[in-house]
This record gives sequence, structure tokens and C-alpha cells, in this order.
Amino acid sequence: MASPLDVVILAAGQGKRMHSALPKVLHPLAGEPLVAHVLASVRALAPRAMALVVGHGAEVVERALAAPDLTFVRQNPPRGTGDAARVALAELPSDGVALVGLGDVPLVPAEALASIAEIAQAGRVGLLTARVRDPFGLGRVVRGPAGDVQAIVEETDATPSQRAIGEINTGFIAAPAAQLARWLSRLTPHNAQGEYYLTDVVAMAVADGVPVEAHVVTDEASVLGVNDRAQLAALERVLQRRKANALMLAGTTIVDAERIDIRGSLQCARDVTIDVGCVFEGHVRLADGAHVGPYCVLRDVIVGERTRIEAYSHLEKATIGAQCRVGPYARLRPGAELADDVHIGNFVEVKASTLGQGSKANHLAYVGDATLGSRVNFGAGSIIANYDGANKHRSVIGDDVHVGSNCVLVAPITIGAGATIGGGSTIVKEAPGGQLTLARAPQVSNARWKRPRKKG
Ligand code: UD1
Ligand code: CA
Repeated sequence: MASPLDVVILAAGQGKRMHSALPKVLHPLAGEPLVAHVLASVRALAPRAMALVVGHGAEVVERALAAPDLTFVRQNPPRGTGDAARVALAELPSDGVALVGLGDVPLVPAEALASIAEIAQAGRVGLLTARVRDPFGLGRVVRGPAGDVQAIVEETDATPSQRAIGEINTGFIAAPAAQLARWLSRLTPHNAQGEYYLTDVVAMAVADGVPVEAHVVTDEASVLGVNDRAQLAALERVLQRRKANALMLAGTTIVDAERIDIRGSLQCARDVTIDVGCVFEGHVRLADGAHVGPYCVLRDVIVGERTRIEAYSHLEKATIGAQCRVGPYARLRPGAELADDVHIGNFVEVKASTLGQGSKANHLAYVGDATLGSRVNFGAGSIIANYDGANKHRSVIGDDVHVGSNCVLVAPITIGAGATIGGGSTIVKEAPGGQLTLARAPQVSNARWKRPRKKG
């Protein structure tokens, strides 16, 4: 039987090269903290225990990542990756296999972690390495004449010939826990950076006659670390490109795969089209034939079949039925619920309101805290005054109501089914169904009036 697996992820460093008040591992990649991506890969292995080493900004990191299956271990002060691993292993059981990895390598694949864990299960040291085009700044994997792994040498400690090595340490290593703890206890900071290097464990294992077996990753991007914001942005594009590819291969048209940002989950049914520059956050679902025009932001939104979201629309926590038309320049705020065939036009804002089938608010309107029936026509420039300065009130507008242009409906208000509200009205009490209600100064004309003329 395989021995139990315990995982340690290192996240105590400050991330100086980020020049940020936010700890590096909390910088978002596709909307999730960097280290959350690493933890997601680790969780796929279903380890017995999972520990995160925190130090710089520990409270913030712990708050952001708190989860029942995650233990936090504090490293104070951060004295190197080897010191961090040592502190964490002391908190974990020593009867199993330990996998130690870095919190700043977000795209590390779960399968690669599984394969080094397996090497460790067999009593050897499993090391995740990669051949990269530009190894600058990374630990180099030094192999012997027979190709066996002998040591890892950090950039700052490497000789010129070692710097020419293209195989690098990705930062993930697995070994029998008790042995790893022993090696870590023997580390010294005798190197250019004066730190305890986790990577020194490799030469120690070799010296003790424990073979180190490398699992070499071929997809370079999946093991790149993030040390500065340029690397963060580069990995963001890699991840976005992957998400876009997966969607396209499953049948979504993405007009330009380089110009889409998915910061959460985006589910697309068949024949969905997404134009350039759109941002999807939280959980977004687009039904068959849905179309999202250019430069839209959708956060936690459900879009029905054949609905068109036109350019520059901003939708948040909204549910939209089938065959609707939203935008261009529409804003749906939390609690906007549109039934089928609803039209929301330019510069229309809808908040915490339900619009029944076939209702329309096509131009320059505000619908807040209201229930609108079916086939309501909400005129240009009309608004629901839902807020009295202290409290918000709900309004009810029946089926087939026509609200003319430039009306103010002062909430709470009820407008009966089939009512027509004349343009320019300020409605403060119930308007009965089926009738025309007008609340504006009557129009007067003065035949004797003369336009003033300029004197002199
Ligand atoms: C490290 C490796 C290097 C490897 C590279 C891959 C070492 C000595 N070097 O270098 O071989 O090629 O990653 O990306 O291991 N951390 C702590 N406590 C500390 C120091 C660091 O928890 O005392 C954490 C950091 O928060 C970070 C991770 O360890 O998440 C890596 O630290 P970093 O300083 O970025 O190491 P690199 O210089 O990138
Ligand atoms: Ca790093």
C-alpha cells in the first residue's frame, strides 16, 4: 500500500520584486490568488494533509485562503525555502511521503505532482524539472555523466558552465518525509544569498545513496514561477489562452482568443459567440446561440438562448431569459431578472427588478426595486425614484403598462395592468389599470406673448 501523502506549499516570502503591499501569492491570476491555483492542483492528489507556510502578510494570506483541509504554519523570519520546508515538516506526521512545492508556480499540473509523489512512494526522491528556453534566475539541475541528477545549483551560486544548463528546478520535490526532515535539519546558509536552500537536499540525497529521479515537464509555461508583475501578466495570458482554447474546441466562437478574460468559470452551450475585449467574472452561463458583443463585463450572470448582449454592457448578478436584447451600453445590477424577449437599450440601468416577457426599456431609463409585468413599455428618460433618502421602496407595474417618456414614478407605487402614463408625469399615487394617467402641468399657449428684443 502506498504511504500517505502530506503536502507543504511555501508562501512565506514577501515577493520583493512585485513591489506591492499585497503578499505575492495573493496576487490574482485569472481572478484567483496565485497560490490558490497551486492548492487546486494539490487537492487533485487528495493528500492526507496540506500545509501552507506563511510569514510575510501571514494574517492576510490566512484569511484569504482559510479552508478546512488547509493548515497554516508560520515561518518567522523567512530564511529560505529549506527553512520554510523544515518548519512545516515539523508540524506534519513523519510516517509518509512529503511533497514540498512553491506557492508562486500557479500552473503546475496535478499529474506532474502525482508522478513525483509516486517516485517518493518508491523510496526515492522525486524532482520536478523542466527544460526552458531562458533559465536565467532559476536553479539549474546538474546531472552526472550517466545523466543521473546530482545537485541543484542556484543562479547566484552557479559557475558559467552550470549557467549554460537549460534544465531547471521547478521548485517541487517529493521524498519520504522522515528522510527529508533529516536532510533539512542539516542545511546551512553557506551560499550567495545566505539562505537555507530547499534545493541543497538533492545533493544530500545523492550523497546518502538515495537516487533522485527527475520528472521532466515539457510544457515550459506550466512550471514558470511568478516573481514580478511582468511574469504574472505573461502567465495570465497563458492561462487565458488555455481557457479560450478549451471553449473554442467545445464549440464556442471567440472572435479573438487573445482578447478575452475569464476570471472564474464560463460555461457556454452551443453556438455561443463572444466578441473582443469581454471580461467574465464569477460564474457565467451562456445558453445556446447567445451572443456577447465587444467590451462587455459579465459577473455572475446567466444568459438565455439566442439572447444578444450588445457592446459595452455591464452586467452583474443578473438572470436574462431567451431572445432578449441588452445594450449597447446597458447596465444590469444585482437582482435584475429579465424574462424572455425583453429589450434593455442604451443607458438603461436595472437593479433588483423583474421584467416580464416582452417588456422593453429601450433608452435612458432607471428601473430599480420593481416588478414589471409582461409587455410593459418603459419610456425613454423615465425612472423609478426608489429611494426616499432614507429607505428604498418596491413598486409594481402591471402587464401591458405604457410609461411615457421622462416620467418619475415615486416608489412605492402601483400601476395597474394596461395603464398608460403620459410623458413627463410625476406619479406619486396608484395609477389605475386601463386608464390614462397624467400628472404634469397642462400645456398653455399665449397668443399675445412677444419675444423680448435686445435694447439699443
Ligand atoms: C526557487 C528555487 C529555484 C527554482 C525556482 C522555481 C530555491 C532556493 N530556489 O527560486 O531553484 O528554480 O524557485 O521557480 O528553492 N518562500 C518561503 N520562505 C522563504 C523563502 C521563500 O515560504 O524563506 C516561498 C516564497 O513565498 C515563494 C517560494 O517560496 O512562494 C519561492 O521563493 P522564491 O524566493 O521566489 O524562490 P526563487 O528565487 O524563485
Ligand atoms: Ca519564485
